[in-house]
Amino acid sequence: MSFAIAIDGPAAAGKGTISKAVAAHFGFAHLDTGLLYRAVGAKVLAGVDPLEAAETLTAEDLEEPGLRTADVAQAASRVAVIGEVRAALVDFQRAFARRAGGAVLDGRDIGTVICPDAEAKLFVTASAEVRAQRRFAELEARGDDTSFETVLADVKERDARDAGRAEAPMVAAEDAVRIDTSELSIEAAVAAAIAAVEEARA
Ligand code: DC
Repeated sequence: MSFAIAIDGPAAAGKGTISKAVAAHFGFAHLDTGLLYRAVGAKVLAGVDPLEAAETLTAEDLEEPGLRTADVAQAASRVAVIGEVRAALVDFQRAFARRAGGAVLDGRDIGTVICPDAEAKLFVTASAEVRAQRRFAELEARGDDTSFETVLADVKERDARDAGRAEAPMVAAEDAVRIDTSELSIEAAVAAAIAAVEEARA
């Protein structure tokens, strides 16, 4: 039996944390689809052609260190506007969504393009300022030398590109449950997500 949970939303809204917790709660597999675009973006930064990078992507590429940096995030957002790159990654994501035992996929276009028939759909969001603050705290803790203003500008630039592109733009599916995490603790956001999935399962 398959059961697909689509979790979309902008950068640093809490999708990753919520997706992992939801997957653990239901005993489902989890795929962070942003990692696919980050792995392609990292290869492009290393001089590989974007389409070639997408078509030859391997599981090991997703384990590369450095995929979480701001530069790779921007490179991922830039390769993600290329229709052929997106098309090269579709089959893998759809097969993952329909694996036996249930799957959680998080990204930007899961509920709209990759898995429009997902049994449960969430759109996790938060204000740009709150998201930038969270990302800034993460980067500071890691010892990165950056400023809140730089991180906020980065978040806004990526939002605009991800939401404004012609191909599979970031947008909430009409039937997605929206969760705004701006004023929620992690525990409350996870509880809201699990409740929404339970409702879809009922
Ligand atoms: O979720 P993330 O921040 O790791 O994603 C990095 C970039 O990848 C994001 O800015 C846009 C792109 N992306 C996408 O276009 N579609 C997805 N399903 C996931 C990510």
